[in-house]
Amino acid sequence: MATEQVIDRDHLEREAFAGVLRFYELAKRQEWQVRDLPWGELPPIPEGKGSAQRQARRKDMWRSVLTQQLQADMLACEMSSQLLNIAPDPEAKLYYSTMVQDESRHTEEAGGTAERDPHLDELAHMTLEADTLEEKVFQMQVFYERLIISRFRLIARASRGTVLEDVCNRLTTDDGIHHGAGMAYEKVLLQNADKKTKRNLVEAANRLLPIFVEHALWRPKERAFIGNTMRSRDIERLREDIEIGVRLAESLGLDVSDVDLPFP
Ligand SMILES: [Fe+2]
Ligand SMILES: [Fe+2]
Repeated sequence: MATEQVIDRDHLEREAFAGVLRFYELAKRQEWQVRDLPWGELPPIPEGKGSAQRQARRKDMWRSVLTQQLQADMLACEMSSQLLNIAPDPEAKLYYSTMVQDESRHTEEAGGTAERDPHLDELAHMTLEADTLEEKVFQMQVFYERLIISRFRLIARASRGTVLEDVCNRLTTDDGIHHGAGMAYEKVLLQNADKKTKRNLVEAANRLLPIFVEHALWRPKERAFIGNTMRSRDIERLREDIEIGVRLAESLGLDVSDVDLPFP
């Protein structure tokens, strides 16, 4: 009987990890190189029209966009390598080895240097310092990597016919895989997690959300003029993002009745 139970448990565990391994295979198939980008065929970023002053301002704006993209991917490198280090399951380690490679490659398309988003640094710090693997995977892969996809789509739409558009399309695919793998792994983790771990995860989310709001509404000075005209659109998008996060948490079987929605 005992042997049967062990075999049964092993079988169930393997089944549960099948999802994670599928994303590992997918990640290897989708891998690309920076040299695959259409360098020399397309302009790197949208070329400005109009006066020299106007063009310079547009260039500054794109530089700030690339800076935030680079900042996010550098933080993603730290977070994914931490996950690779601490995840105890071999299937997850295999997967994270591809994610570390992806995030490192994402930092190769070097952005310009402009102002960093201080709230993004704080969010990443909270995830790196989070107490449990369940919290880290939830914040990084379930929440951030799902939300970043719509940002890349927006940037791609604003940069048609450029290398940047091509990069954003690849980042959309990569982060789709990162998010899918995180959902699959978080499901396994939460199956075995006790009530306290789940409650702590929701409490951590409540501490994180107000800073996420500041991050979502923050604009560097180069894009402050957009920030002001788009504020109501930003708030609407923020609300949608947080609702997606709540729905994802619910789909993972978490009790979301205690989530404080920090809408301004
Ligand atoms: Fe990335
Ligand atoms: Fe990612």
